[in-house]
Amino acid sequence: MNLKKCKIIDLPKVQDRRGNLTFIEENRHVPFEIKRVYYLYDVPGGESRGGHAHKRLQQFIIAASGSFDVILDDGFERKRFHLNRSYYGLYVPPMIWRELDNFSSGSVCLVLASEYYDEEDYIRDYEIFKKMVRESLGEKNSVLRDSYERD
Ligand code: TYD
Repeated sequence: MNLKKCKIIDLPKVQDRRGNLTFIEENRHVPFEIKRVYYLYDVPGGESRGGHAHKRLQQFIIAASGSFDVILDDGFERKRFHLNRSYYGLYVPPMIWRELDNFSSGSVCLVLASEYYDEEDYIRDYEIFKKMVRESLGEKNSVLRDSYERD
């Protein structure tokens, strides 16, 4: 899985002077069935979260309140996304290393997930993650991989 599959998705926004409203429907606004929702909150200043990849899990990450950064890494390159609005989110496919930092005070990181919680699905060691990425590319793709690494 490469970073090009990671993308910001705009969500519907119903603007109203009484306050705005955004909604998310599975398989429409996010490209998977939503099995689980969790959120990070009360994150102390300077803290970071994440630091892992998932074998199968797809996620959609929203700054429901405040802002934070999500750093995504496909084993070859890294990209930082700044999330600061509740009407868009970041789609993260499987086999992407993620770290979250730069949380503003009072921020809420809302995550929609395609699977139930399963510790077996986590890859918590970056070197093992990189090894798995390279193994999954396979030897027959070694020429392609070498050129990808050079670019
Ligand atoms: P983890 O995903 O490791 O969070 P982070 O990478 O941001 O530090 O989860 C932290 C703990 O919470 C871990 O012990 C597992 C538990 N947890 C659940 O029980 N259910 C869940 O849905 C999630 C996301 C975590």
